[in-house]
Amino acid sequence: MSGDDALLVLDDVSVAYDGMRALAGVSLRAAAGAIVALVGANGAGKTSLLRAVSGLIRTSSGTIRFAGDDITRLAAHRIVQRGIAHVPEGRRVFASATVRDNLLLGAFVDRSAAHRAERLEAAFTAFPILRDRLDQRASTLSGGEQQMLAIARGTMSGPRLLMLDEPSLGIAPLLIPHIYAGIRSVAARGTTVLLVEQNVREALRAADTAYVLQTGRVVLHGAAADLIGDPLVQEAFLGLGAA
Ligand SMILES: Nc1ncnc2c1ncn2[C@@H]1O[C@H](COP(=O)(O)OP(=O)(O)O)[C@@H](O)[C@H]1O
Ligand SMILES: [Mg+2]
Repeated sequence: MSGDDALLVLDDVSVAYDGMRALAGVSLRAAAGAIVALVGANGAGKTSLLRAVSGLIRTSSGTIRFAGDDITRLAAHRIVQRGIAHVPEGRRVFASATVRDNLLLGAFVDRSAAHRAERLEAAFTAFPILRDRLDQRASTLSGGEQQMLAIARGTMSGPRLLMLDEPSLGIAPLLIPHIYAGIRSVAARGTTVLLVEQNVREALRAADTAYVLQTGRVVLHGAAADLIGDPLVQEAFLGLGAA
């Protein structure tokens, strides 16, 4: 049952590695068009959740529904075809390929030239620097620019849901606002974004709703603006607790 506007719905999802539980009964929903942040410390299970949605690891129980359909047991390539793009941690780009080719490779599931041109323009609106770098090899970009390229490539298939794993990790602080401006631009065009971050402050500022994960369980969720003011969040993640 999903009698609402949620695009992605996880219901009581568990994931285990060799019997060790990484996710223990997680329920989460992402409304269509929203930015949803999933925050938590290292090891909380954030990456495992994204990998479960992408079909890269199997759930041990629970269901994952996308656009009303049960995708829990679908193969990863089928999940991509349904419109879920996953940008993994570590800004993996094709280093020796140009920025242009990296972007066009992201459009492989859709052969329409008109769609490609439209999405390239949208990618440049989100990350203007990429237009200036089009003919450079990806290896010549800074870390922050590579992250922008990785995110932009994720949008090139025209996904309904874009999942980003730690987009600001290891990025020069001056570039982080540009990365977030790009993420907001992608969402403003109607793409739902599920954003995983240890950078809780940036993630909560950008998000509409948020979930806090601790050792595989959701311990808090709600409007991101409310969570910023929550004592647990302030103390555990924002360094603002009574010290
Ligand atoms: N491939 C794996 N094999 C075994 N354990 C794993 C594997 N990947 C993650 N884990 C464990 O699962 C838990 C959650 O990890 P992960 O989902 O990567 O968390 P996060 O992304 O929040 O840092 C951690 O205890 C981690 O050590
Ligand atoms: Mg992770």
